[in-house]
Amino acid sequence: MDITLSVIKADIGGYVGHSSSHPAILEQAEKGLEQAQKKGVLIDYHVTRCGDDLQLIMTHREGEDNEKIHGLAWDIFIKGTELAKKLGLYGAGQDLLSDAFSCNVKGMGPGVAEMQITERKSEPVIVFMADKTASGAWNLPLYKMFADPFNTVGLVIASNMHSGFIFEIHDVKEHKSIKLNSPEEIYDMLVLIGAPGRYCIKAVYHKDSGEIAAVSSTQKLSMTAGRYVGKDDPVCVVRTQGHFPAVGEVLEPFAFPHIVEGWMRGSHNGPLMPVAVRESNPSRFDGPPRVIAAGFQITGGKLIGPRDLFDDPSFDEARHQANLVADYLRRMGPFEPHRLPLDEMEYTTMPEVMAKLASRFEEIP
Ligand code: F6R
Ligand code: MG
Ligand code: MG
Repeated sequence: MDITLSVIKADIGGYVGHSSSHPAILEQAEKGLEQAQKKGVLIDYHVTRCGDDLQLIMTHREGEDNEKIHGLAWDIFIKGTELAKKLGLYGAGQDLLSDAFSCNVKGMGPGVAEMQITERKSEPVIVFMADKTASGAWNLPLYKMFADPFNTVGLVIASNMHSGFIFEIHDVKEHKSIKLNSPEEIYDMLVLIGAPGRYCIKAVYHKDSGEIAAVSSTQKLSMTAGRYVGKDDPVCVVRTQGHFPAVGEVLEPFAFPHIVEGWMRGSHNGPLMPVAVRESNPSRFDGPPRVIAAGFQITGGKLIGPRDLFDDPSFDEARHQANLVADYLRRMGPFEPHRLPLDEMEYTTMPEVMAKLASRFEEIP
């Protein structure tokens, strides 16, 4: 019997500022999902948070994009927002762009990554969750996991993944999608995914079996809302072991704190720092951006876990390097490439400044 793993998340209020989440919000969400489990809507659930984002990890038999499951998440976010308002949390209800729920939460603010799977005898999955960055942040690590033999030696020496993977890429500006084969088309693919502000890897499939291997959230909050409402703070689910990359091959890309967009005011480039859940409190210049990894064994739909996978000294050096890169970039202050280019910043005073200065611009002779 197939089961569906749904990760639905939203920032419904920060504590303090945008740096973290209040425990009462998590507690309330936990109770909501416990009730849904008792009613038989969910098989299992886990509530966590990355920075100021509330993460609902759920298993069920309703399939993807299901009204009941999305409605459940939406209700939890609405009730959470009420509590956030009561506590005076910062930006209460920030990611809820609509007042009324209809069918599913897509385009309504929350981020969603879902996969329906036929459970293997043993099903190890990793749920990655990031704060202070955008969905394109997964491009580089997903490429390394599923296409780079210097990261994933299984592509070279394991016959069950030697033929490679298929990447589904979304053009988030034009709302178009394309599937490309790896390794045959990696040069074409890199032209696209090397521009993560526009092209995001939505899913990865095992080529021989066609099975889903990874899925990410690709909502572009600022575009959905048509105004600044914060970076997407994306999530990504990856199946591991067997004919998928091993847990260690899936975590390995994060040993390099690559540069992502987000950080302060969603308008800067900075290193993505892999941390334990308890350390996902982006405080320095509202950052640097964080990523956490929750590992589960899914057994009969039950979420056995999580293991807090970046809570490991082997990622100390990545954290150290992220701090060095953060120091280095911060010294550039409001200059690019630390600050994002004009049309990619989430905050701008450009129209006002130009309106004020327009009459003082002179032709250069
Ligand atoms: C970035 C983020 C924060 C805020 C910043 C200003 O995604 O959420 O860096 O942009 O703290 O917040 P406001 O404008 O709410 O005072
Ligand atoms: Mg926030
Ligand atoms: Mg956030």
